[in-house]
Amino acid sequence: MAYIDVRQMSRMFLTGTQVTHANTDISFKVEQGSVVVILGPSGAGKSTLLNILGGMDSPSEGEVLIDGVDIAKMNARQLTTYRRQSVGFVFQFYNLVPNLTARENVELASQITKNARDVAKNPKLLLCDEPTGALDYKTGKQVLQVIQNAAKETETTVIIVTHNSAIAKMGDQVIRINDAHVQSIEHNAHPTPLAEIEW
Ligand SMILES: Nc1ncnc2c1ncn2[C@@H]1O[C@H](COP(=O)(O)OP(=O)(O)OP(=O)(O)O)[C@@H](O)[C@H]1O
Ligand SMILES: [Mg+2]
Repeated sequence: MAYIDVRQMSRMFLTGTQVTHANTDISFKVEQGSVVVILGPSGAGKSTLLNILGGMDSPSEGEVLIDGVDIAKMNARQLTTYRRQSVGFVFQFYNLVPNLTARENVELASQITKNARDVAKNPKLLLCDEPTGALDYKTGKQVLQVIQNAAKETETTVIIVTHNSAIAKMGDQVIRINDAHVQSIEHNAHPTPLAEIEW
């Protein structure tokens, strides 16, 4: 059984009279312990999908089976329990701290590395939204190395959202999202060790 099984999932947002289709008819499966890289342009629906997988939002339609349980059917309290028990998050801090000095940025970078280590310790599912976005090259690589190790050593299932297509080489699976839809799913029998990836 796949650890993640998303079936014809859609998420739309209603703002006033305007409907935004953020995710439309999304389907894919992920085996436990694998690394999935989600690529796609800005506004494609990547964060929406990640939020749904993390139990921070619920789909409008479809099923989201995690370890055999449909989290799309969970109420707020059940979702809180799911998040606490099963999910770790690594977020881009960039938007929160737009005006940092160089020194502060270095401190932030090591803080993010630490966060990545912390969350990579245990969760069954590790969700990363642009984890290297705010980081210098070297620290970004360190964070991704921690994430890759987590998948290998503790069977953590990892989802990484990124704009950086070079990072796709570390994925067992690469899902391209475009205009709310899954555009392509690629399986990679031999993911590249992070040390060999450059961008
Ligand atoms: N809470 C919301 N209410 C209304 N519209 C939303 C909401 N969240 C996302 N959207 C819209 O859904 C679409 C997909 O947004 P999403 O944030 O998932 O894109 P993204 O692929 O993560 O983009 P980026 O690469 O810029 O982070 C966008 O048109 C966005 O404006
Ligand atoms: Mg996003």
